[in-house]
Amino acid sequence: MIELKETISVRRPIDDVFRYLSDFTNIEQWDPGVVRSVMVSQGPVQLGAAFELTLRYLFFPVRMIYTIAEYEAPYRVVLKGMGGSFSVTDTIELSGNGPQTQVTYTAAFVFSALSPRLVKMMKPALTLIGKASMAGMKKALSPIARPPQSVSLFSARSHPMDVAADRLILPGALGFSTWGHRLSKSFWRANAESLTRQTVVLTGATSGLGKAAALGLARRGAKLTFIARNREKALATQRELSQKTGNNHIDFYIADLGLMADIKKVAEAILHDKPSLDVLINNAGAMFAERSETVEGLEKTFATNLLGPFFLTRHLLEGLSRTKAPRIINVSSGGMYTQRVHVADLEMNHQAYDGATAYAWAKRSLVILTELWAEQLKQKNMSVHAMHPGWVDTPGLSTSLPRFHQQIRPLLRTPEQGADTLVWLASAMEPGQCSGLFWLDRRPHITHVFAGTRETDDERRQLWKALEAYEKKRLSMVKVGRESLPPAARG
Ligand SMILES: NC(=O)c1ccc[n+]([C@@H]2O[C@H](COP(=O)([O-])OP(=O)(O)OC[C@H]3O[C@@H](n4cnc5c(N)ncnc54)[C@H](OP(=O)(O)O)[C@@H]3O)[C@@H](O)[C@H]2O)c1
Repeated sequence: MIELKETISVRRPIDDVFRYLSDFTNIEQWDPGVVRSVMVSQGPVQLGAAFELTLRYLFFPVRMIYTIAEYEAPYRVVLKGMGGSFSVTDTIELSGNGPQTQVTYTAAFVFSALSPRLVKMMKPALTLIGKASMAGMKKALSPIARPPQSVSLFSARSHPMDVAADRLILPGALGFSTWGHRLSKSFWRANAESLTRQTVVLTGATSGLGKAAALGLARRGAKLTFIARNREKALATQRELSQKTGNNHIDFYIADLGLMADIKKVAEAILHDKPSLDVLINNAGAMFAERSETVEGLEKTFATNLLGPFFLTRHLLEGLSRTKAPRIINVSSGGMYTQRVHVADLEMNHQAYDGATAYAWAKRSLVILTELWAEQLKQKNMSVHAMHPGWVDTPGLSTSLPRFHQQIRPLLRTPEQGADTLVWLASAMEPGQCSGLFWLDRRPHITHVFAGTRETDDERRQLWKALEAYEKKRLSMVKVGRESLPPAARG
């Protein structure tokens, strides 16, 4: 047997360190020898939870299964790993002292097929590997000082390579695929941030990207509130999230986010129930092939993808301003690159309706709104970000663009890959230090690729005014009771 023991000290609360280290899917972020780690058991990280690790061993991948054999949160977790010719017992012991946590990691290897002499010869190599892992762990658990490519607190710029790829269209578009995600991932640093004690409001959590993001947020311990329009789906989502993560701080509110009266009611209920909000994620969205209007008389693409997020955010600002460093994240789309803003025709009344174009108009406007909010809210220390998830295999994509979905299916990202940047923007330190950016795969990207999509300052001001005018009009209609809508209800 070979036993290795190392101790490190990190400036982070013991609960957060325990949550991060006991979830062995995170080991790929800090152990350079681990290529991939996935959870293979059902349910939360707890006694009996199992993980499949792929290790890099010379040029060959080696698979191991690790199972949690002891689990005493937040002090001790023991994992037993089985490989082809050896087994290992990893014991992680934590002790906390205020914001400081001490981590002692013991790895005991047993090699069944090797002679004692050979095992002895392996010790120096294993010691080096152990030290590299502990250095990786310490780095992962240490705070990060600067945002990516930062030039100042409230601005950052895109990496020159990303700008070149975006401008060259084809490499830029390939970046939207699962390959783009995998390539970007190899440059990421660990994100060990927890969302414990943070209240996160998320829209569109019952499907696709939103559901994957909800899972990631719940795993990080967030107090998660989601807004959904379908009670049965909401209940099933709440149950699934709690069952998979063990997080019981998950609730929901019912509202159709294309209806301003619903949004007003749901926002009032949330502000009434929650003392403060840390993060708002405007993810719900949809593309409609045919032109149609909501019962409030608004064109649906505009109402759901632009006016809804505007309305919801404005109503929830009060709750967000009660926290120290709140964040707002708007889910846009790479499709917005193809269009400029159309302030004089936000509902596409003056030209033949085309679903994809209307959708791109709304998503373009959402990016402009993000930049305007970032400017307006910087005194309040709020970070406002827009992101696009790439091409993601979701029910939304297969319904709205069935042919595109079918044609590029092998290139599509999983919902988890698409939602990664959402979870990162909500939790990591870097995005809290900048604002007003447009992200893909944890990196800021340019917002204009084609000549002619760039709006003037005047158009930006007009967009703001137009949305405020809609807001005023809708609110006065709600006040005089001209809406015949079901009340937004608590879950
Ligand atoms: N998939 C992609 O490739 C892709 C690419 C770029 C951008 N996006 C954006 O990513 C976001 C999520 O899309 P997705 O692909 O995950 O689509 P999805 O699978 O259809 O999920 C959309 C979510 O939004 C909810 N939603 C839609 N309209 C709503 C309304 N009026 N009121 C309340 N909730 C509503 C849906 O609720 P129900 O479950 O009740 O339907 C669902 O939870 C959208 O903003 C979309 O524009 C997606």
